[in-house]
Amino acid sequence: MQKEIIFVMALSAAILVLCSQVKGQSRAMKKEIFQPLPYDAADKKADSVLALMTSDEKMSMISGDRSFFIRPLPRLNLSEVYMSDATQGVHIREKFRDLDLTRYQLQKSTAFPCPISLAATWNPELSYQYAEAVGEECRAGNIGILLGPGMNSYRISQCGRNFEYFGEDPFLRARIIEEYVKGVQSTGTVATLKHFVANNTEYFRRRSNSIVDERTLHEIYLPPFKAGIDAGAQAVMTSYNLLNGEWCGQSANVINTILRKQLGFKWLVMTDWWSVYDGEKLAQSGQDLEMPQAVALKEVQTMLKDGKVKMEDINRMAKSVLRTYYAMKMSDRKKNLPDSAMYDHHESIALQTAREGIVLLKNDKNILPLKSDLKNILLTGKYVEKLAKGGGSAEVKGFNHRLMLDELKAEFGQRLIYERNPSIEQIKSADAVLCNIGTDDSEGWDRAFALPEDQEKRVLDCVNNNSNTVVIVTSGSGIRMTDWDTQARAILYAWYGGQIGNKALAEILAGKISPSGKLPITLEKEFKDSPGYGYIPAGEELYADWNGNKEKGHPVYDVRYSEGIFVGYRWYEKKNIQTLYPFGYGLSYTTFEYSDLVLSNDEFQENGIVKVSFTVKNIGKKTGAETAQLYIQDVESTVPRPVKELKGFQKVDLQPGESKPIVIELNKKDFSFWNPDTKDWFFEKGAFIIHVGASSKDIRLRKQLEL
Ligand code: BGC
Repeated sequence: MQKEIIFVMALSAAILVLCSQVKGQSRAMKKEIFQPLPYDAADKKADSVLALMTSDEKMSMISGDRSFFIRPLPRLNLSEVYMSDATQGVHIREKFRDLDLTRYQLQKSTAFPCPISLAATWNPELSYQYAEAVGEECRAGNIGILLGPGMNSYRISQCGRNFEYFGEDPFLRARIIEEYVKGVQSTGTVATLKHFVANNTEYFRRRSNSIVDERTLHEIYLPPFKAGIDAGAQAVMTSYNLLNGEWCGQSANVINTILRKQLGFKWLVMTDWWSVYDGEKLAQSGQDLEMPQAVALKEVQTMLKDGKVKMEDINRMAKSVLRTYYAMKMSDRKKNLPDSAMYDHHESIALQTAREGIVLLKNDKNILPLKSDLKNILLTGKYVEKLAKGGGSAEVKGFNHRLMLDELKAEFGQRLIYERNPSIEQIKSADAVLCNIGTDDSEGWDRAFALPEDQEKRVLDCVNNNSNTVVIVTSGSGIRMTDWDTQARAILYAWYGGQIGNKALAEILAGKISPSGKLPITLEKEFKDSPGYGYIPAGEELYADWNGNKEKGHPVYDVRYSEGIFVGYRWYEKKNIQTLYPFGYGLSYTTFEYSDLVLSNDEFQENGIVKVSFTVKNIGKKTGAETAQLYIQDVESTVPRPVKELKGFQKVDLQPGESKPIVIELNKKDFSFWNPDTKDWFFEKGAFIIHVGASSKDIRLRKQLEL
């Protein structure tokens, strides 16, 4: 008998250990983590190979080949390197312009939820897993360089590529991106931080000149790049736009000064596709690789003869390509054979991302989860029968698509009635309406903040005729909700959920899980409220033109970042502008209580740290997860500072009644601002308020600290 008890106890302990390992999928228990060669060793190796190369061979290394390749050099055992897009999974590209790329493609790749929804999870560990999965698929497809993460800033809700990026806040972006970089590179695939820098609109993207002051660059636009660099990113892609009058891809200020000197980046820099114009400037800028082919460097031999380009520049560029090549051990790479277990695992990460990324914005009288007395649930909308996804180079087809219709049918059975174009009568007579609206966001153009007419009409028809309307937004960025937000009973922001995201949506609607996403952006009431309003030259209009034909005739135009550091919630708080939903906001099916804020010290010494501790408790009846956020406020400063700045967050899973302690450490840098005179971070003494809360607006605890 005793033996049996011991056996059962041992068995339960073993199961417990196993479960915790599976749940955490911790890095420690996982596959081997790829270790790059350290800089000095890779540099030495690059030197020794460079010494064996002819000038022609060196020149062949510094521009792309067949659009997505670095040229091979069999004589020196250098294999070709294939690059592929990008942040939300591997873009399977059978054709690129006239080029047939079929033989290089993976059979299938997982379509993950879009990056802005990964940011909405506020879960850096999940970002690692997501990116590791993308990296594994790169290995399976022999892709040496992933052309991601895309990581520009959400400055304007209209930017067509916001879905590819990580929202408006530099701190949140940095935390998600550093784990993304580690995840991709743990598989031996190069992560490319793009697009450097201040590339925050797609409106005539090759013609825009971002005018940004130095402090703003360092406080808002550079921190995510810095975090990616510190995490070990092996490549950076420059951007299409000009920064303060210079094309980023050939600007010594952008590459040599900001990227290399100030941010400390030592590895490979490449241009965005067809984005540089002057070979002489390019060679002197710190740029290494012109993609997708030599255009500015087309006459490099002549430029060399004429003394416009020096051999030492070509040596530097070729060496940089070699350095990353050897650091990432490209010659020794073996193709991992993709198998179904790998894809299953990646799908489960995609599902988890969607579960944690969907944001519940509104839930009047707790209509969600949908109760069993709602017998007649009408479903209608844009992305019910087809999968929504962002377009352009980041597009990922995916496989095994879970359509909204099928997932909701599986969840609600006969209670769900689908109507493509319901009549007002049908809307009125339903017990509840699930109304899906959305936008088609893409690289290459910006789209209006206001919904397209048909979408606005659909949602108004629903909310005006049925007071139990749940709106499901499928979009890669912010949309205008001002005319129907109050009438909607509930709103779920579902982004582009990838191939399996609709399963997560169904689980949330049915109450199998509680939503836990929080907005990585502010949702403004009107576009004119936003800091970027007015960026389109007077008299011009938004357009959609994938071929870029319209772009050619358009003059270079200035985008003045006159709001400076006041981007996103920093802007709305400073200007006292009411928003629809604030940054960091998102509801759950349960409620959380914050208590016991303690600072490890009331005074802060310059080289110390302060530990901020508090407790979060689930005081509702359902299991849920909460992201507690920490903002600092400089009470008095010699320079203008935001009302609040995010400097820490933590997501915790909590059972009903459960509480967990949270500790967030702050250091000197967290309190500092960029001083353009000294070109460094400046730590100014004085009083600070530490705010802890559930969003940038919903502050639950506060304490003052003297620096
Ligand atoms: C995009 C890049 C992309 C490249 C290659 C460019 O148009 O801006 O993000 O990596 O194409 O597809």
